[in-house]
Amino acid sequence: MNLKRTVAIETEDSSASIRSGTRQPLQDGEIFSLAQALIDSRQNVSPKRLVEPGPSAAQLDALLSLAAAAPDHGLLMPWRFILVPAAQRHHLAEVFALALIDRDPGATLEQIESAREKAHRAPLLLVAVACLGHREPDTPSLERMVSMGAAIQNLLLGAHALGFGAGLTSGQAMTSPRLHKLCALAQGEAAVCCVNVGTVSRRKSASRARPLPAQFLSELMAESSDCSVQ
Ligand SMILES: Cc1cc2nc3c(=O)[nH]c(=O)nc-3n(C[C@H](O)[C@H](O)[C@H](O)COP(=O)(O)O)c2cc1C
Repeated sequence: MNLKRTVAIETEDSSASIRSGTRQPLQDGEIFSLAQALIDSRQNVSPKRLVEPGPSAAQLDALLSLAAAAPDHGLLMPWRFILVPAAQRHHLAEVFALALIDRDPGATLEQIESAREKAHRAPLLLVAVACLGHREPDTPSLERMVSMGAAIQNLLLGAHALGFGAGLTSGQAMTSPRLHKLCALAQGEAAVCCVNVGTVSRRKSASRARPLPAQFLSELMAESSDCSVQ
C-alpha cells in the first residue's frame, strides 16, 4: 500500500484550508479510516533498510511538533530528543564501539565495527531521552515513560505518513556512562532508544501478526471487587 498517496497527511495547518473553502472537512468515519490505515500499516524499519533522503529540516520540525502533542500529565515535557547530525555520528560510533568493549573486552574486530556502523545507518538519528529527575509536580516515572512512548509513537506515525520508514534501536549502549557523557545528560535523565528515520530501501515481506484485543483486554469481575489488603 502506498500510504504516501493514500493518506496525504499535510504538515500545513489543515484547518486553514478547510476554512478557506479549498477542501471539504473530513467526516468522522473518514478520519478513523485514515488513522486506521496509517497506524495499521506502520512497521518498525531497521536502520539497515533506511537510506537517503531523510526528512528535510521543515519535515523534522513537523515531526517534532507531533511529538509535542503527546499526553503529558503535569505538563512536564518529561522527554527530549537529541539530533545527531552526520558530522557528529563518528562520536556516537565511538561510544557504541567503546561501550561494547567495556562490557565485552573480548569482542572481535568485526563486532566492534558492526557496533560502530550502527551510528551511521539512518539519514536521521535522534536519541530519545527520558527526564525522570525531580520536577514539580513530581509525577511518577512510569507516567513520564507513558508520555515519552506517546511522543515517540507520534513521531513514528508522522514519519510513516510522510512516506518515510522509521525504526527504534536500543541495546546496552543506551545505559553506558560514555553515552551519558556524550549526550550531556543531566541527573535523572536516561537515554532510552534511538529513533531512526529515512527512505526505505526494501521492506520486510510481511508485518508481524498483531495481538488481538481479547489477548490484552479483560473485564473487572464482581469476585475481584474485594479491595481489602493484608
Ligand atoms: C523502546 C524500544 C526499543 C527498541 N529497540 C529495538 C532494537 O534495539 N532493535 C530492534 O530491532 N527493534 C527495536 N525496537 C522495535 C521493536 O522490535 C518493534 O517495535 C517490534 O518488533 C514490533 O514491530 P512493529 O513496530 O513493526 O509492530 C524497539 C522498540 C521499542 C519500543
